[in-house]
This record gives sequence, structure tokens and C-alpha cells, in this order.
Amino acid sequence: MKTQNKVALVAGAQGVIGRNLITHLEAEGGWDIIGLSRRGGEAKEGTRHIAVDLLDRRDVEAKLGPLANVTHLFYAAYQDRGSWAELVAPNLAMLTYLVEAMEASAQHLRHVSLMQGYKVYGAHLGPFKTPARETDPPPMPPEFNIDQQRFLEARQTGKSWTWSALRPSVVGGVALGNPMNLVIAIAVYAAMSKELGLPLRFPGKPQAYDKLIEVTDAGLLARATTWAATEPKAANQAFNINNGDLFRWNDMWPRIARFFDMEVAGPMPLQLSIVMTDKEPLWNAMVERHGLAPTPYKDVSSWPFADFVFSWDYDFFADGSKARRLGFHDQVDTEAMFLELFTELRRRRIVP
Ligand SMILES: NC(=O)c1ccc[n+]([C@@H]2O[C@H](COP(=O)([O-])OP(=O)(O)OC[C@H]3O[C@@H](n4cnc5c(N)ncnc54)[C@H](OP(=O)(O)O)[C@@H]3O)[C@@H](O)[C@H]2O)c1
Repeated sequence: MKTQNKVALVAGAQGVIGRNLITHLEAEGGWDIIGLSRRGGEAKEGTRHIAVDLLDRRDVEAKLGPLANVTHLFYAAYQDRGSWAELVAPNLAMLTYLVEAMEASAQHLRHVSLMQGYKVYGAHLGPFKTPARETDPPPMPPEFNIDQQRFLEARQTGKSWTWSALRPSVVGGVALGNPMNLVIAIAVYAAMSKELGLPLRFPGKPQAYDKLIEVTDAGLLARATTWAATEPKAANQAFNINNGDLFRWNDMWPRIARFFDMEVAGPMPLQLSIVMTDKEPLWNAMVERHGLAPTPYKDVSSWPFADFVFSWDYDFFADGSKARRLGFHDQVDTEAMFLELFTELRRRRIVP
């Protein structure tokens, strides 16, 4: 007898995280996949997309009400705002509308997976306790990830579905048009520096150059996400998910420069969000000269996020051993991850 496919509803299907999760679900097999975003996307075998505004409860109810077969909701949607406090209302509203709609329509809902990050430890605010553990107390509110988790915990009480929460560090993955994409920012910054005949200078704070940091490969995160969503021992818990190695930019940056065949230069806090504002004509000229895929400059501009990451003049890592103790054993070599992602960007002709 053929086993019934699980049905994955992926909110944030065009994000750095959501796109890579869908790719993983497609490769894993056994899933029917529905992606949600405002822009929608092209359907292919086993995957379809619905364009929906998760901030609009009526749009959510109208478009998602008919989805009676969803078994797993993977939530990786995100609304960016100018301040940490402003993130709470829209991000909590999107999750709330979606979970309420699914509870009403999806009779066989088994799991809700929530994508979080190290903001639950106050990592975005300044020095925090490292390694951060899942049991560490949260910072003073407002913090949207914590509100989302509390909503899920309260909502799940007495229900047959379970939840899990994933806490990655900065995520490395290929995607375009996303506000938080470190790999694109480094690759485009390097390509432009080279075009201008400059060395690859670390554009962050001098004190950030020698601190310990870790990142999370988007593929590894996707594997951890489906593991946590389907492993009974992982139910109703949160997990730090990281590559499993630590690095310092003072070691990684010269390796990145070598990949791009460039001289390396030490730190200078450039403020990419300022110095890259006049670079659109340069980008367009590079697209032309190198025969690149025609990508609008705004779709490769994650400059405020890169400034943010390169400003961390404190150690930035969490203890990833809880997931490993419960059976998720994947690890990724971070240098190999960066170089593979840059290679993939070249293969797709996004950068020269
Ligand atoms: N990127 C990282 O390095 C990183 C690291 C740690 C944690 N995280 C966390 O992971 C989560 C996802 O991050 P991400 O970087 O993957 O986000 P992202 O690239 O900005 O993607 C957000 C997704 O949400 C969709 N979306 C936004 N507003 C929507 C709306 N009103 N209705 C429907 N869909 C909407 C977007 O598509 P449309 O624009 O087409 O609607 C997109 O698919 C966030 O909570 C973030 O804090 C990210």
C-alpha cells in the first residue's frame, strides 16, 4: 500500500530559509509542498505556491481555508521593521492568523515548526552569555521570537499537534531579494572591490575581526527543521542549530579573499549601507561587462544586515549540543560552506 505523503505548508517560501527548506523537502521526498509568500512562485512537480498576505487575516482565511490536508506547518516568514520593538506586532500577527486558519481547516495538523534565531538570547543587543543555551532566560521584552513561541506554547496546550522552534545563527544560503543575506553581501562587496581595483577589506568594526562567531548553513538548517518536526523526542522544544565549528573573521576573511583571487586588507568600519548607496550604476555596468544574470541591484543589497553582522565586537555563538544529544548529528565545515555558496553564485552568473 502506498503511504500517504505528508503535506508541508511553508510560510516564507521565498526567504533565505524558506527557499532552502523547500529544496530540502523536495529532495527528501514523501512531501506535498505548498509555499506561501506575497510574491508567489512557479509551481513544479510536488510543489505549488500561493500568493497571500499573512498580515491580512481575511486573505489568509480565504486562500488557506481550503487547505484541509496540511500536516506540517513550517513557519519562516518575516516582516522587517526599523526597530526591534516594531518587529513584534506584524510578526506575531502573521503567525497567529496562519495558525488559527490551519487549526480551523487542517484536521490532520501534526506539527508547527517556528523559525527563530539568536535574538531570543539578546544577541542583537550586545554581548550575551556564550555559549547560549536553550534554557537561558530571554532578554527584556519586546522580542518577537519570544512572543511567537509563547503564542505557540499556549495555543498547543491540549491539542494533538506539537511544535518545535529552531534557533540558527546567521544563515548561509543562496537566495535573492532578501534583507538578511550575508553570503550575497560578501560576494557582491568582493566583486565590486575587485572591479574598483581594491583589496578585500574587512568592512566591519576592528574589534569584530577577532571575535568568535558561528553560522548556520541553510541546508543543514532545513535538515534540522524536518528532523525536529518529525522526531517525537524533539516535540514541544527549542533547538540551537549551527554548523558545529567556530571561526574568527581574521582567519576566514583571508580565505574568502583567496577564493576571489584578491589581496586582503584589515578592518575599517565602512558602513556598507552608506558607501554602497551610490553603487547601482557600477553594479549595472558589471552585469553588462561580465555577462551576469540581470539581477536588480536592490535584490543583491543586504547592506544593513552585513553592517549589523560585521559590528559584533563580542563572541557570537550558542551551544548546539541539545539537538545532537537527541539525534540530529549533521555538521558543516564553515569555510567549505562559504566557498560552495560563492561557487554556486558564480555558477548562476549572479557574480563574476
Ligand atoms: N537570514 C538569516 O541570516 C537569519 C538568521 C537567523 C534567524 N533568522 C530568522 O528566520 C526567519 C526567516 O528569515 P529569512 O532571512 O529567511 O527571511 P526573508 O529572507 O526576509 O524571507 C521572509 C519571507 O517571508 C515572506 N513574507 C514577508 N511578509 C509576508 C507577508 N505579509 N505575507 C506573506 N509572506 C510574507 C517573504 O516573501 P514576500 O516578500 O514575497 O512576501 C519571504 O518569503 C526570521 O524570523 C529571521 O529572524 C534569519
